[in-house]
Amino acid sequence: MIQFDHVDKVYANGTKALDDVNVTIEQGEFVAIIGLSGAGKSTMIRTINKMIDVTSGTVTVDGLNISELKGKELRKYRRKVGMVFQSFNLVSRTSVINNVLSARVADMNFFRTLFGLYSKEDKIIALEALDKVGILDKAYIRADQLSGGQQQRVALARTLAQNPQIILADEPVAALDPVMADVVMSDFQKINRDMNITVLINIHHVDLALQYADRIIGIQAGKIVFDGPTSEYKKNEKANFRKIYGRDISEDDLMKEKL
Ligand SMILES: Nc1ncnc2c1ncn2[C@@H]1O[C@H](COP(=O)(O)OP(=O)(O)OP(=O)(O)O)[C@@H](O)[C@H]1O
Ligand SMILES: [Mg+2]
Repeated sequence: MIQFDHVDKVYANGTKALDDVNVTIEQGEFVAIIGLSGAGKSTMIRTINKMIDVTSGTVTVDGLNISELKGKELRKYRRKVGMVFQSFNLVSRTSVINNVLSARVADMNFFRTLFGLYSKEDKIIALEALDKVGILDKAYIRADQLSGGQQQRVALARTLAQNPQIILADEPVAALDPVMADVVMSDFQKINRDMNITVLINIHHVDLALQYADRIIGIQAGKIVFDGPTSEYKKNEKANFRKIYGRDISEDDLMKEKL
Protein backbone atom coordinates (compact mmCIF):
# COMPACT_ATOMS: atom_id res chain seq x y z
CA MET A 1 0.00 0.00 0.00
CA ILE A 2 1.23 3.47 -0.94
CA GLN A 3 0.02 6.42 1.08
CA PHE A 4 0.60 10.14 0.45
CA ASP A 5 -0.24 12.21 3.48
CA HIS A 6 -0.23 16.01 3.03
CA VAL A 7 2.69 15.81 0.61
CA ASP A 8 4.24 19.02 -0.73
CA LYS A 9 7.19 19.26 -3.08
CA VAL A 10 8.84 22.62 -3.60
CA TYR A 11 11.87 22.62 -5.93
CA ALA A 12 14.93 24.75 -5.13
CA ASN A 13 13.74 27.43 -7.57
CA GLY A 14 10.49 27.83 -5.64
CA THR A 15 8.21 25.83 -7.98
CA LYS A 16 5.54 24.03 -5.99
CA ALA A 17 5.16 20.78 -7.91
CA LEU A 18 3.02 18.93 -5.36
CA ASP A 19 0.53 20.77 -3.20
CA ASP A 20 -1.07 18.91 -0.29
CA VAL A 21 -1.36 15.54 -2.02
CA ASN A 22 -3.39 12.94 -0.11
CA VAL A 23 -3.78 9.59 -1.87
CA THR A 24 -3.95 5.93 -0.84
CA ILE A 25 -3.18 3.23 -3.40
CA GLU A 26 -3.82 -0.40 -2.50
CA GLN A 27 -1.57 -3.27 -3.57
CA GLY A 28 -2.57 -4.49 -7.03
CA GLU A 29 -4.22 -1.32 -8.32
CA PHE A 30 -3.61 -0.03 -11.86
CA VAL A 31 -3.59 3.76 -11.66
CA ALA A 32 -3.14 6.29 -14.45
CA ILE A 33 -2.01 9.79 -13.52
CA ILE A 34 -3.10 12.40 -16.04
CA GLY A 35 -2.76 16.17 -16.30
CA LEU A 36 -1.18 18.97 -18.30
CA SER A 37 2.55 19.18 -18.92
CA GLY A 38 4.10 20.56 -15.73
CA ALA A 39 1.17 19.49 -13.54
CA GLY A 40 3.42 17.36 -11.31
CA LYS A 41 2.91 13.82 -12.66
CA SER A 42 6.59 12.87 -12.85
CA THR A 43 7.28 14.50 -9.52
CA MET A 44 4.51 12.46 -7.93
CA ILE A 45 5.75 9.09 -9.12
CA ARG A 46 9.40 9.96 -8.46
CA THR A 47 8.67 10.63 -4.81
CA ILE A 48 7.63 6.96 -4.51
CA ASN A 49 11.07 5.54 -5.30
CA LYS A 50 12.79 8.48 -3.60
CA MET A 51 14.33 9.80 -6.79
CA ILE A 52 12.84 12.98 -5.34
CA ASP A 53 12.51 13.79 -1.64
CA VAL A 54 9.31 15.45 -0.49
CA THR A 55 9.47 18.88 1.16
CA SER A 56 6.77 18.15 3.73
CA GLY A 57 4.23 15.47 4.51
CA THR A 58 4.94 11.75 4.29
CA VAL A 59 4.98 9.00 1.69
CA THR A 60 4.42 5.66 3.39
CA VAL A 61 4.83 2.32 1.61
CA ASP A 62 3.75 -0.82 3.48
CA GLY A 63 3.88 1.10 6.72
CA LEU A 64 7.41 2.48 6.18
CA ASN A 65 7.94 6.23 6.01
CA ILE A 66 10.26 6.23 3.03
CA SER A 67 11.86 9.59 3.94
CA GLU A 68 13.52 7.76 6.79
CA LEU A 69 15.04 4.99 4.67
CA LYS A 70 18.82 5.06 4.29
CA GLY A 71 21.66 2.83 3.15
CA LYS A 72 20.84 -0.85 3.06
CA GLU A 73 17.16 -0.36 3.90
CA LEU A 74 16.79 2.14 1.07
CA ARG A 75 18.48 -0.21 -1.41
CA LYS A 76 16.22 -3.03 -0.31
CA TYR A 77 13.18 -0.80 -0.70
CA ARG A 78 14.22 0.41 -4.16
CA ARG A 79 14.40 -3.18 -5.38
CA LYS A 80 10.70 -3.52 -4.66
CA VAL A 81 9.96 -0.55 -6.90
CA GLY A 82 10.54 -0.95 -10.64
CA MET A 83 10.74 2.06 -12.94
CA VAL A 84 10.03 2.26 -16.67
CA PHE A 85 10.82 5.39 -18.69
CA GLN A 86 9.71 6.83 -22.02
CA SER A 87 13.20 6.33 -23.45
CA PHE A 88 13.57 2.60 -22.49
CA ASN A 89 17.14 3.13 -21.13
CA LEU A 90 18.54 -0.12 -22.52
CA VAL A 91 22.18 -0.89 -23.18
CA SER A 92 21.87 -0.93 -26.96
CA ARG A 93 25.02 -2.85 -27.90
CA THR A 94 24.32 -5.96 -25.88
CA SER A 95 21.73 -8.72 -26.07
CA VAL A 96 18.18 -8.50 -24.84
CA ILE A 97 18.80 -11.14 -22.18
CA ASN A 98 21.85 -9.30 -20.85
CA ASN A 99 19.73 -6.18 -20.49
CA VAL A 100 17.16 -8.13 -18.50
CA LEU A 101 19.84 -9.88 -16.42
CA SER A 102 21.25 -6.52 -15.35
CA ALA A 103 18.23 -6.30 -13.01
CA ARG A 104 19.60 -9.30 -11.09
CA VAL A 105 22.89 -7.60 -10.22
CA ALA A 106 21.55 -6.25 -6.92
CA ASP A 107 21.33 -9.80 -5.60
CA MET A 108 24.79 -10.92 -6.79
CA ASN A 109 28.14 -10.85 -5.08
CA PHE A 110 30.95 -8.62 -6.31
CA PHE A 111 32.88 -11.21 -8.35
CA ARG A 112 29.83 -12.55 -10.10
CA THR A 113 28.88 -8.99 -11.00
CA LEU A 114 32.40 -8.20 -12.20
CA PHE A 115 32.51 -11.15 -14.56
CA GLY A 116 28.85 -11.16 -15.49
CA LEU A 117 28.45 -14.65 -14.06
CA TYR A 118 24.74 -14.98 -13.85
CA SER A 119 23.38 -18.12 -12.24
CA LYS A 120 21.14 -20.54 -14.05
CA GLU A 121 18.33 -19.41 -11.78
CA ASP A 122 18.85 -15.77 -12.82
CA LYS A 123 18.78 -16.77 -16.47
CA ILE A 124 15.52 -18.60 -15.95
CA ILE A 125 14.04 -15.57 -14.21
CA ALA A 126 15.16 -13.36 -17.12
CA LEU A 127 13.74 -15.72 -19.73
CA GLU A 128 10.46 -15.99 -17.84
CA ALA A 129 10.21 -12.21 -17.74
CA LEU A 130 10.78 -12.04 -21.51
CA ASP A 131 8.14 -14.70 -22.01
CA LYS A 132 5.68 -12.71 -19.90
CA VAL A 133 5.98 -9.75 -22.28
CA GLY A 134 5.87 -11.97 -25.36
CA ILE A 135 9.40 -11.55 -26.69
CA LEU A 136 11.16 -14.69 -25.53
CA ASP A 137 12.23 -15.33 -29.13
CA LYS A 138 14.24 -12.08 -29.08
CA ALA A 139 16.39 -13.04 -26.07
CA TYR A 140 19.69 -13.32 -27.97
CA ILE A 141 19.23 -10.41 -30.34
CA ARG A 142 21.04 -7.13 -29.77
CA ALA A 143 18.74 -4.63 -28.08
CA ASP A 144 19.30 -1.95 -30.72
CA GLN A 145 17.95 -4.25 -33.43
CA LEU A 146 14.46 -4.19 -31.94
CA SER A 147 11.61 -1.80 -32.67
CA GLY A 148 10.70 0.85 -30.11
CA GLY A 149 7.77 -1.19 -28.83
CA GLN A 150 9.90 -4.30 -28.47
CA GLN A 151 12.56 -2.27 -26.63
CA GLN A 152 9.94 -1.04 -24.20
CA ARG A 153 8.87 -4.64 -23.61
CA VAL A 154 12.51 -5.50 -22.82
CA ALA A 155 12.58 -2.62 -20.35
CA LEU A 156 9.43 -3.98 -18.77
CA ALA A 157 10.92 -7.49 -18.61
CA ARG A 158 14.03 -6.04 -16.95
CA THR A 159 11.82 -4.45 -14.33
CA LEU A 160 9.94 -7.73 -13.83
CA ALA A 161 13.20 -9.63 -13.32
CA GLN A 162 13.81 -7.40 -10.32
CA ASN A 163 10.67 -9.02 -8.80
CA PRO A 164 9.03 -5.71 -7.93
CA GLN A 165 5.95 -5.10 -5.87
CA ILE A 166 5.29 -1.76 -7.54
CA ILE A 167 6.00 -0.60 -11.10
CA LEU A 168 6.23 3.11 -11.81
CA ALA A 169 6.10 4.14 -15.45
CA ASP A 170 6.73 7.67 -16.68
CA GLU A 171 5.10 8.12 -20.11
CA PRO A 172 6.05 4.59 -21.22
CA VAL A 173 4.21 4.72 -24.54
CA ALA A 174 4.77 8.36 -25.51
CA ALA A 175 7.45 7.41 -28.05
CA LEU A 176 5.46 4.54 -29.61
CA ASP A 177 3.00 4.29 -32.48
CA PRO A 178 -0.63 3.47 -31.63
CA VAL A 179 -0.29 -0.27 -32.36
CA MET A 180 2.80 -0.72 -30.19
CA ALA A 181 1.34 1.53 -27.50
CA ASP A 182 -1.60 -0.88 -27.22
CA VAL A 183 0.71 -3.88 -27.02
CA VAL A 184 2.79 -2.32 -24.23
CA MET A 185 -0.28 -1.13 -22.31
CA SER A 186 -1.70 -4.67 -22.56
CA ASP A 187 1.56 -5.98 -21.09
CA PHE A 188 1.22 -3.63 -18.14
CA GLN A 189 -2.37 -4.76 -17.67
CA LYS A 190 -1.46 -8.43 -17.82
CA ILE A 191 1.37 -8.01 -15.34
CA ASN A 192 -0.88 -6.04 -13.03
CA ARG A 193 -3.62 -8.67 -13.11
CA ASP A 194 -1.58 -11.88 -13.18
CA MET A 195 1.07 -10.87 -10.67
CA ASN A 196 -0.87 -8.43 -8.50
CA ILE A 197 1.87 -5.82 -9.01
CA THR A 198 0.73 -2.26 -8.37
CA VAL A 199 1.13 -0.17 -11.54
CA LEU A 200 1.30 3.61 -11.54
CA ILE A 201 1.60 5.14 -14.94
CA ASN A 202 1.92 8.76 -16.07
CA ILE A 203 0.27 9.07 -19.39
CA HIS A 204 -0.36 11.82 -21.85
CA HIS A 205 -3.00 9.99 -23.91
CA VAL A 206 -6.30 10.06 -22.06
CA ASP A 207 -7.91 7.38 -24.24
CA LEU A 208 -5.23 4.85 -23.25
CA ALA A 209 -5.55 5.78 -19.58
CA LEU A 210 -9.30 5.13 -19.73
CA GLN A 211 -8.92 1.90 -21.68
CA TYR A 212 -6.36 0.23 -19.42
CA ALA A 213 -6.30 1.75 -15.93
CA ASP A 214 -8.80 0.94 -13.17
CA ARG A 215 -8.36 4.27 -11.45
CA ILE A 216 -7.66 7.79 -12.68
CA ILE A 217 -5.82 10.46 -10.73
CA GLY A 218 -6.03 13.92 -12.28
CA ILE A 219 -3.48 16.48 -11.20
CA GLN A 220 -3.46 20.19 -11.90
CA ALA A 221 -0.71 22.54 -10.71
CA GLY A 222 0.36 20.04 -8.06
CA LYS A 223 -3.11 19.43 -6.66
CA ILE A 224 -5.20 16.29 -7.05
CA VAL A 225 -8.41 17.49 -8.69
CA PHE A 226 -9.86 14.09 -9.65
CA ASP A 227 -9.38 10.70 -8.01
CA GLY A 228 -11.72 7.83 -8.68
CA PRO A 229 -12.43 4.62 -10.58
CA THR A 230 -12.19 4.86 -14.36
CA SER A 231 -15.90 4.00 -14.52
CA GLU A 232 -16.63 7.08 -12.41
CA TYR A 233 -14.52 9.28 -14.70
CA LYS A 234 -16.33 7.96 -17.74
CA LYS A 235 -19.74 8.91 -16.36
CA ASN A 236 -18.90 12.53 -17.04
CA GLU A 237 -15.88 12.52 -19.29
CA LYS A 238 -16.20 16.03 -20.64
CA ALA A 239 -16.56 17.71 -17.26
CA ASN A 240 -13.86 15.60 -15.64
CA PHE A 241 -11.42 16.37 -18.45
CA ARG A 242 -12.16 20.06 -18.06
CA LYS A 243 -11.64 19.86 -14.30
CA ILE A 244 -8.17 18.38 -14.78
CA TYR A 245 -6.98 20.24 -17.88
CA GLY A 246 -8.94 23.48 -17.64
CA ARG A 247 -10.01 23.17 -21.29
CA ASP A 248 -11.92 20.85 -23.62
CA ILE A 249 -10.38 17.65 -24.95
CA SER A 250 -8.61 17.80 -28.33
CA GLU A 251 -7.19 15.20 -30.72
CA ASP A 252 -3.71 15.76 -29.28
CA ASP A 253 -4.93 14.21 -26.04
CA LEU A 254 -5.71 10.90 -27.76
CA MET A 255 -3.47 8.15 -29.11
CA LYS A 256 -5.90 6.81 -31.68
CA GLU A 257 -9.60 7.57 -31.42
CA LYS A 258 -10.91 10.47 -33.36
CA LEU A 259 -13.20 12.88 -31.60
N1 LIG B 1 14.36 19.66 -10.98
C1 LIG B 1 13.44 20.64 -11.04
N2 LIG B 1 13.74 21.88 -10.62
C2 LIG B 1 12.83 22.87 -10.65
N3 LIG B 1 11.57 22.72 -11.11
C3 LIG B 1 11.21 21.50 -11.54
C4 LIG B 1 12.12 20.39 -11.55
N4 LIG B 1 11.48 19.32 -12.04
C5 LIG B 1 10.24 19.72 -12.33
N5 LIG B 1 10.07 21.03 -12.04
C6 LIG B 1 8.83 21.82 -12.19
O1 LIG B 1 7.84 21.22 -11.37
C7 LIG B 1 6.58 21.21 -12.03
C8 LIG B 1 6.09 19.78 -12.18
O2 LIG B 1 6.97 19.08 -13.05
P1 LIG B 1 6.76 17.57 -13.47
O3 LIG B 1 7.95 17.17 -14.24
O4 LIG B 1 6.41 16.79 -12.28
O5 LIG B 1 5.48 17.70 -14.41
P2 LIG B 1 4.79 16.63 -15.37
O6 LIG B 1 3.35 16.64 -15.03
O7 LIG B 1 5.50 15.36 -15.29
O8 LIG B 1 4.98 17.29 -16.81
P3 LIG B 1 5.22 16.59 -18.24
O9 LIG B 1 3.88 16.11 -18.71
O10 LIG B 1 5.74 17.70 -19.09
O11 LIG B 1 6.22 15.49 -18.07
C9 LIG B 1 6.79 21.94 -13.35
O12 LIG B 1 6.46 23.28 -13.17
C10 LIG B 1 8.27 21.79 -13.59
O13 LIG B 1 8.77 22.85 -14.35
MG1 LIG C 1 6.62 14.21 -16.65
